[in-house]
Amino acid sequence: MGKTIIISNRLPVQLQISNESITAIPSVGGLATGMKSVHSGGDSLWIGWSGLTDEEIPQELAPKIDEALAEHGSSKVKLTSAEVDGFYYGFSNRTIWPLFHYFLEYSEFELASWDIYKKVNQKFADAILEKATDDDTIWVHDYQLMLVPQMVREKRPDISIGFFLHIPFPSYEIFRTMPWRKEVLSGLLGADLIGFHTYDYERHFLSSVRRLLGLDVSFNDIYLDDRTIKVDSFPMGIDYKKFSDAAKEHAQRSEEQKSELQKRLDTHKKSTPDAKFFLSIDRLDYSKGIAKRLNAFEYFLNKYPQYKEKVRLIILAVPSRSNVPQYQLLKKEIDELVGRINGELSTVSWTPIWYFYRSMPFENLIDLYTTCDIAWLTPIRDGMNLVAKEYIATRTDKTGVLILSEMAGSANEMNESILINPNNFEQIADALNQAITMPKAEQQNRNSILQKRLERYNVEKWANDFMTSLRNQKEGNTTYVSRKLSVDLMNTITKDFGKSNKRLLFIDYDGTLAGFHNDPQKASPDAELYELLDQISNRENTDMYLISGRDKETFTKWFLPKKYNMIVEHGVWISQNGEEFRMLENVKKDWMEKIHPVLESFVDRTPGSFIEEKNYSLAWHYRNTDPDFGQKRATELNTVLTSLIANDDLSVLNGNKVMEIKSSNVNKGRAAMRIYAEDAYDFVFAIGDDWTDEFMFQELPESAVTIKVGRQKTQAKYYVDSIKNVRDLLKRFT
Ligand code: ADP
Ligand code: G6P
Repeated sequence: MGKTIIISNRLPVQLQISNESITAIPSVGGLATGMKSVHSGGDSLWIGWSGLTDEEIPQELAPKIDEALAEHGSSKVKLTSAEVDGFYYGFSNRTIWPLFHYFLEYSEFELASWDIYKKVNQKFADAILEKATDDDTIWVHDYQLMLVPQMVREKRPDISIGFFLHIPFPSYEIFRTMPWRKEVLSGLLGADLIGFHTYDYERHFLSSVRRLLGLDVSFNDIYLDDRTIKVDSFPMGIDYKKFSDAAKEHAQRSEEQKSELQKRLDTHKKSTPDAKFFLSIDRLDYSKGIAKRLNAFEYFLNKYPQYKEKVRLIILAVPSRSNVPQYQLLKKEIDELVGRINGELSTVSWTPIWYFYRSMPFENLIDLYTTCDIAWLTPIRDGMNLVAKEYIATRTDKTGVLILSEMAGSANEMNESILINPNNFEQIADALNQAITMPKAEQQNRNSILQKRLERYNVEKWANDFMTSLRNQKEGNTTYVSRKLSVDLMNTITKDFGKSNKRLLFIDYDGTLAGFHNDPQKASPDAELYELLDQISNRENTDMYLISGRDKETFTKWFLPKKYNMIVEHGVWISQNGEEFRMLENVKKDWMEKIHPVLESFVDRTPGSFIEEKNYSLAWHYRNTDPDFGQKRATELNTVLTSLIANDDLSVLNGNKVMEIKSSNVNKGRAAMRIYAEDAYDFVFAIGDDWTDEFMFQELPESAVTIKVGRQKTQAKYYVDSIKNVRDLLKRFT
C-alpha cells in the first residue's frame, strides 16, 4: 500500500528565523491543529508552505529548513514574497475567505491575484507529482488549494485524490458572483471524494455544480465524463484524548508546577470566589464576531447590572493574516472597543475585559479552558469551530457551560450547548444569564452527552471515515449492479459477434450515440456517426435497429434515406429497409386531450420546460429548467398524473430530464421482443442510457448482451461510461 500525502498551505509548524537559527512554532487554526493528530509522520508526508518566503531564507540556512521540516514529516513548497502576496494575502484571503464566509462586501475580484493563485496551485500540484507514486493517496486541504486536484489528475489520471474544505461552502447565490467560479469547481472535481464539515455546505456545493456546470448529480454522486465523484459531509473532530488528558494532568499539578498564567487566574478566582469567567478564543478574524461579542457583553452588563464586578471576559485573539487590510481594521476596532468598554465600566477592583492579542502555548490554552466557567463563542460564520469542542473536552468534572453561535459548523453536533444567534443581543444577554445560573447538575448532564459524542467521533475517526470513503470510491463504485465493460469483455463480445450466424442489434439514440442538447432537434447525427452506422447496417446477417423515443418525423429526416431499420416513439412505429414508417402497435390517442392541459399548466409554472407532441405520446422536457426546481416539479407532475391516468391504459416514463406519457402497451422491450421473435437470432445486443431502455434489458433473453450507458442502477449486464465508449465498442462490429 502506498503512503498518504497530505497537502495544505499551512504545515503543522511555522518556521521562523532569528539570530541565524531556525525555530519551529506550532501552527494555529483548525486545519493544522486537527490534521497534526492524524499525521503520523511515518507513512504520511505533509507538503505545504514553511511560513517563510524565499527572500527570507538565507542560502546557508536552506538545508536546515528542510531538516527542520523533515523532523515533522513535512516537506516545503517554496514561495516568493510576491507569490505569498498574491496567493495567500491576495486571492485566498481577500477573495475566497470573505466570499465563502458571506462577507461579500470584503471580496475583491482581481485578475492578477487569480493568476497568481493558479500559478501557486500549480506549484503545489508539481510538488505532489514529484513525490507521489501511483499507489499513493493524495489528500488536499482547504480553500487555498482548490485547483490542485484537477492539476494532479491531469498528470496522474489513476491516482486517488481526496479534497476536504475546512471552511463553509456558500450558497449558489453567493458563489456565482465569483468571476472564476467554473474554474474553481472544475479544479475541485479532479478529486474522487470531496468532503465538507456539514450537509449544508455539501448541498450548496452540489447545487453550484449542477447549475454552473450542468453536470448530472444523483444523490451525492457527480458524473463527469467517465468518472464518478463522491461528495459527502464529515464533521471534523478533535484529538479528544490529548485535551482531556492534558486537563487531568493540569488538575493534579502542585503549586510550583503551575504556569504563571494559571497562578494569576487562581489568585483572581480566590479573591472573588463567586465571580464567573467567560472565555473566548479565536484567531483575530472578522468571521469570528469578536466586535459583536464585545458589544453584546456591554449590552449584557446593562441589562443585568447585578453582574457588574461579578463577571470577567477573557478574550484571547490570535494574530492572523495581518497584511490584509480588513484584519488591520478589525484589530484597530477591537483595541478601541476593549479600551472604551473597560474605560467606561472598570472600577478600582474590577476590569471587565482581559484582552490578549497573541498566540499561546498549548499548556496555557488548557489553563484557560479548565479555569473558565463559561466558553462564549460567537462566530458570524465558521466552517466548524474546534475551540468549542476543545473546551468541552477539557472539562474533566463535566462542569462548565458552552454558549455557541448557531452559525458555526460545530453547532450541528453540539445541540446540548446553549445555541445563540450572534446578531441577537437580547438572546445573548439572556443566554449569559442562563449560563451563570445554570445548576451544576444540568451542566454535567449536558456536558456528559457532548463529551461522549466528541470522544467517539474524534479527529482520528473523522480522518479514517474520510479515507475509507475515498478508498471505496476508488475501488470501484461497488454499488453498481452491472459490471464495467472491460477490454477483455469487449474482446469476448466481438468474438461472439463474429462467430454468430444471425445478429440483432438494438441501439438507442439520445444519450447513447449522441449527446444531449438543449434543443432536441440540434442533437443531429454527425458524419462520423453516419459512417459507423452505415458500416454496421451493411454487414451481412446483421439486423441493426435504432430504437428511440423520438418522433417519426425527425428520424425520417435523419435516417430514412440511409435505410436503417428504426423503431420510434418507444415502439409505436417501425421502418425497415428504408420503407415508410408503419404502426407496430395499435394505440389510442384520445387521452391526449385530457393530459395536454395538465402539462401546459406545468410549462406555465416551470420556466424553461416545454411539451413535445409526438403522434402517440406527450413528453414534458425539463432539461433547461433550474435543476432543483425542475426535479421538484417532475415529482409533483408524477403525483398528479398517477391519479389522473389511473383508469386509462397509460403509463408515465421518467426519462433523462423528460417525462413521457404514453399507452401502457407500448415500450421498447415489447417492440424489441416482437422483432426478436421474427427470426432465429443467435447474437442479440441492446444498448441504451435511459430508464426507457430498461424495458429492453429486462425483456430480451438472458443470452443477450445488454449495456447501460452511465452508472445509474440498471438491469443491463454491463455498463460503459460515455458516448465515446459506445462508439468505440460499435466500431468493433464494422
Ligand atoms: P479556525 O480554524 O478558524 O482558526 P478553529 O476554532 O476551528 O478556528 O480552530 C482554532 C484552532 O487553533 C484550535 O485548535 C485552537 O486550539 C488553536 N488555537 C486557537 N487559539 C490559539 C492560541 N492562542 N494559541 C495556540 N493555539 C490556538
Ligand atoms: C482556518 C483555515 C485554515 C487556516 C487557518 C489559519 O482554519 O481553514 O486553512 O490554516 O484558518 O489561518 P492561516 O491563514 O493562518 O493559515
